[in-house]
Amino acid sequence: MKFTTLLLSGLAALTTAQTAAPYTDAKSGITFNAFIGSTGYFFGIALPANSTSSNTDFIATIGGKGTGWSGVSLGGGMLNKLLVVAWPNAQAIVSSFRKTANYGSPAVATGTFTQTPIANGTYVNATHWTYTFLCSKCILSDKTTFAPTDLTASFGYALNAAAPAQKTNPASSVAKHTSQGQVSLDLKKAQSASFESWRSWAVKSAVTVAVKREWEG
Ligand code: HEM
Ligand SMILES: *[C@@H]1O[C@H](CO)[C@@H](O)[C@H](O)[C@H]1NC(C)=O
Ligand SMILES: *[C@@H]1O[C@H](CO)[C@@H](O)[C@H](O)[C@H]1NC(C)=O
Ligand SMILES: *[C@@H]1O[C@H](CO)[C@@H](O)[C@H](O)[C@H]1NC(C)=O
Repeated sequence: MKFTTLLLSGLAALTTAQTAAPYTDAKSGITFNAFIGSTGYFFGIALPANSTSSNTDFIATIGGKGTGWSGVSLGGGMLNKLLVVAWPNAQAIVSSFRKTANYGSPAVATGTFTQTPIANGTYVNATHWTYTFLCSKCILSDKTTFAPTDLTASFGYALNAAAPAQKTNPASSVAKHTSQGQVSLDLKKAQSASFESWRSWAVKSAVTVAVKREWEG
């Protein structure tokens, strides 16, 4: 019995293994340092060259297979960290910042941080959905995220293949993840001299993305 349990949890760990590697999105041409899971989940980050202690911005890509939600913790763990949760709604993407002190569907987070989509990195194809965005004022100094000069940082991933209850509503509750964990990413490998050029591609109305922000109530 014990042996079976061990064997099964070992297998589960293997099948949800995440691999960190440089990843270039074919449609935008943006290169990220990313982790890509066997479930189709992926999260990637790009930072400015020589990210200094005053940098608060990065470009991220997040996605998955099918119509379920994918989430990332910018501080590693689930609790008291800044989270981003996104999912597809037909050809559009729905996304929000979240934060919670308890294990349960995280509430929408309030702050000055914003997400601005990059159009050609945001799409839904036959198998996957992909959301690429400039995250402005997202690197915080309150330990809810990584720091701009960190050489490596731990990110949390979480996903559920089931779509959220109200998929048109960025503030929708989500069901608990069916897979979650933490992965360390080399942030030096996320830095690019092209960052400022990629940043300029982020345009507020360039693509249909419903983003929940604090001032939208
Ligand atoms: C109803 C919704 C949710 C419930 C009940 C829930 C509950 C939990 C629990 C109990 C754990 C500890 C590991 C385990 O026992 O499974 C955990 C881990 C985790 N959760 Fe959630 N969660 C929810 C939604 C989310 C969302 C939307 C995210 C988005 C990023 C997230 C991110 C994580 C991460 C990254 C971990 C692993 C790191 C850690 O243990 O803190 N969770 N969650
Ligand atoms: C993505 O869009 C930007 C402009 O918004 C463009 O400069 C860039 O070349 C596009 N990427 C690809 C691979 O076509
Ligand atoms: C970044 O740092 C490297 C070496 O430390 C330097 O050669 C390069 O010019 C810097 N790049 C920028 C954009 O400041
Ligand atoms: C759909 O997009 C994903 C993520 O970019 C990519 O890996 C996959 O090859 C694409 N599939 C098709 C059929 O184009």
